[in-house]
Amino acid sequence: MQVRYQDIACWIETQIQQRVWQVGERIPSVREMSRLQHVSPMTVMRAYEQLEADGWVEARPRSGFFVRPHYNQLADNILARPQADSQWLNTHQDVFDVISASHQGTRYPFGSAFPDPQLFPMQALGRAMARVLRQSSHPDHFTILPPGDMGLRRLIAQRYLRQGIKVGIDEIIITNGAIEALSLSLAALTQPGDKVIIEAPAFYGVLQTLERLQLEPIAVSVDPDTGIDINELERALASHQVSACWLMSNFHNPTGASIPDIDRPRIVSLLAAYQVPLIEDDVYGELYFSSSRPMPLKAHDTQGGVLHCGSFSKQLAPGFRVGWIAAGCYAMQIEKRQSVSSLAVGAPNQLAIADYLKQGGYDAHLRRLRETLSARQNRVLTQLNAILPASTWISAPKGGYFLWVILDKKVDTRELFHALRPFGVTIAPGALFATDGRFNHCFRLNISTEHNDAVCDGLNQIARSLSSLFAAPPVPVK
Ligand SMILES: Cc1ncc(COP(=O)(O)O)c(C=O)c1O
Repeated sequence: MQVRYQDIACWIETQIQQRVWQVGERIPSVREMSRLQHVSPMTVMRAYEQLEADGWVEARPRSGFFVRPHYNQLADNILARPQADSQWLNTHQDVFDVISASHQGTRYPFGSAFPDPQLFPMQALGRAMARVLRQSSHPDHFTILPPGDMGLRRLIAQRYLRQGIKVGIDEIIITNGAIEALSLSLAALTQPGDKVIIEAPAFYGVLQTLERLQLEPIAVSVDPDTGIDINELERALASHQVSACWLMSNFHNPTGASIPDIDRPRIVSLLAAYQVPLIEDDVYGELYFSSSRPMPLKAHDTQGGVLHCGSFSKQLAPGFRVGWIAAGCYAMQIEKRQSVSSLAVGAPNQLAIADYLKQGGYDAHLRRLRETLSARQNRVLTQLNAILPASTWISAPKGGYFLWVILDKKVDTRELFHALRPFGVTIAPGALFATDGRFNHCFRLNISTEHNDAVCDGLNQIARSLSSLFAAPPVPVK
């Protein structure tokens, strides 16, 4: 049967939807395609013109045809994806959509959970890595088994000590990012079917991990200023048999909330009284805008029941995937679990971070990073306060790089997300942070990118799309 130009167009369109060809990539030239499909160059040309007319590709003079960002691409994927049979799976798909959209050459990735890559000392880290690779002649050097590199664990223990927190080196386990720290901790503390206290809203990684481990979430409200609601926490502890509690003490994802100092000892003693171990997710703790690092809840732990999880992903080396747990009395259990799951953390990455820390520039880097993030947050807040409807509530966290925006209840920020896609703008809709839809009128915004004209335009676009979707007139900012 003769291949028609529509067949070729349809075939390529499907491939683009399946991301065989990604946004910005060049599809095969007319000549290559005609050879491949045994059709005339004219037929291929017609197919490509059809794809161009439908908005899938664009022709660039003397370069060929390139895949365009395409709104329908996302919408079609959502329609074509297998029907999720649970709310959990829907959340996963939304998370996947937001993460992939934020990393497909999006101009304004406000939906991303990652900090702006420009903020990190990549050259110094590169030099550290080069030194490590040059110095390591013994093959053992490259298989560092759990609990991880002794030098790095010692440096982490020293940083705890500087805050007056005594954490033994043997308590520290290096992990593949904080996400492994958190999931190993949960796996060590629970059995399938157990109940675990989490926050509402919660970092979507928590929701996914609980689902994977077949655990039942007991969600306790988070105030976007002051963090977890202690009275509700107490009620949850009194009315459920829970095996663990997972919460964020500092610069909560997504709200930016921090638990006031005065409440911290009470939370630790409350959990200890119910003998519920606490998994403290403190990945943003170093990104404070005040004069000193907020104390983790771990500082109030007298019984070894707090597992403190940290990471270098947010403040030093995203992509290196190096995190840790100060696991208290659970260290040995977790170490064994890691040996039979991921086996180990990449040795060069551990050694390069240890080398970088030993060189002595880390604190200066952190100071600069905090100043930059604080200034960027101020600028974004000033602009958003001027352009979003007066009924909007925007958090002003004292650290980290997220803002939590609460809109009128009639707004569904998933619609806003889809409306913004053709403009190369992403946000993280509130639907990602709970499974019951209670934050669908909220969104999380990453402020870590430099506040230049382009970012200013991207933020204005959020206000414009919001207004055209939900009829609230924006005031554009120059
Ligand atoms: C609250 C929270 N915990 C854990 C993680 C995972 O950190 P890592 O990249 O070190 O695995 C993230 C990343 O976004 C996060 O926001």
